[in-house]
Amino acid sequence: HQSRRKAAILREVLIVANRLPVSVDASTLTSGGLVSALAPVSDAIGSTWVGWLENGPAEPFVVDGQRLVAVHTSREQYARYYEGFANQVLWPVFHGLGEYETHPPVQSEAANWLNAYRKVNRAFAERIAEVASNGALVWVQDYHLLLLPEMLRSLRPDLRVAVFLHIPFPDPAALVTKPWARELVSELGAAQLIGTQRERDARHLGAALHLLSPQSSPVVRAFPISIDTAPILQEANRASSPSTVTSVRERLGVTDRPMLLGVDRIDYTKGIIERIEAFSALLGSWEGSEPLPTLVQVLTPTRETIPAYQGYLARVNVATTEVNRQFGTASYTPIVNINGSYSLPELIELFLATDVMCVTPLRDGMNLVAKEFVASRVDDSGVLLLSSEAGAADELHSALIVDPRSQLELTDGMRRALKMSDEEMRIRMRSLRKHVLGHTVHNWASNFIKAAS
Ligand code: G6P
Repeated sequence: HQSRRKAAILREVLIVANRLPVSVDASTLTSGGLVSALAPVSDAIGSTWVGWLENGPAEPFVVDGQRLVAVHTSREQYARYYEGFANQVLWPVFHGLGEYETHPPVQSEAANWLNAYRKVNRAFAERIAEVASNGALVWVQDYHLLLLPEMLRSLRPDLRVAVFLHIPFPDPAALVTKPWARELVSELGAAQLIGTQRERDARHLGAALHLLSPQSSPVVRAFPISIDTAPILQEANRASSPSTVTSVRERLGVTDRPMLLGVDRIDYTKGIIERIEAFSALLGSWEGSEPLPTLVQVLTPTRETIPAYQGYLARVNVATTEVNRQFGTASYTPIVNINGSYSLPELIELFLATDVMCVTPLRDGMNLVAKEFVASRVDDSGVLLLSSEAGAADELHSALIVDPRSQLELTDGMRRALKMSDEEMRIRMRSLRKHVLGHTVHNWASNFIKAAS
């Protein structure tokens, strides 16, 4: 048994993701997200990353000690695959938000997107087939590459193929009507292992396989992803001082009043409009003489060429302006928007200055912001208001959990969070921290690799 386990771990591991984790000129590794999650794992087991990089080198190359393999495809084809099929069809449908699916006015365009998705998946499969050693484990990340398992099985039957889906898997009822559903689910079903964020996603996927591809037999299991807590703790211990909190608050103009915070990519899955409306209802029903709270909202641009994203940003701006017009005064701005992305140290300072962290997506695979907030609160303080529709809700039971579509629940949750006693806040935060610090991304990765080997 011992030697079998060792042999399993000695397999080469290829981490396959949509993009390579490098800067545009391929001179440094980028940080954050999947990269900081997988880099230490990758380092320990000497794995290779495979991903798209425009004009990437023809041969495998090394950046900061990480071995990389670039997949080549034209920018036009990549756009139809990534902005087209992956992000205007799969993304909304998998999040149960089919109303945001783009139906191109020209039918041939939809077929083009699906074709590009097939072709780019094929380019990945062929590249992997060229570089993978005998019996290697191919660890496919996310919804961009769901056709790879079957393509690899026919090109290289010696490989083990495991997929981790970072986003939700939809109720099969929302899927079976799609013309591409059977192809997608059956090709995905050729993997040996498929990991999902939540038990619910695993159930949905199991049911979809049963309906659309009864002959396939992957193991389907939830592996909730997490964060690398060590750098967050280090940074939070440095930033956690009353003077830092005061200066962050002064910079934002939020002194002497409570602060709520949202940190999101500008994506319709994130429930930003619903949050603003609930906040507006909170201000409208404010009683007593306590100062009104401010909602600070970090808005990170994302997928900006896609019409649904442009429209959403415009609606967020309109909703914000309306609340600020209705409730603002010369000395009070109810909603402060910060456009752009924050570095980890800046984010941690914001987290530490916050009274109520609002993570209220309509649906989200996991939502790592919720876990980052908890990890940074080394002072055992602050309240997490969390959507029942974020994967994190399955683990973070001591958060205030609300239905993100119910304005009543959202508003009431904000009110309860602002009124919470210090004692209750500490009890909840300690329990949240115990969970997050005990379940890091390292545990996640090694559990997954063990199950896949
Ligand atoms: C989600 C997906 C990731 C994706 C990220 C950012 O978290 O699960 O695969 O990388 O969003 O989106 P982007 O399209 O900018 O890569």
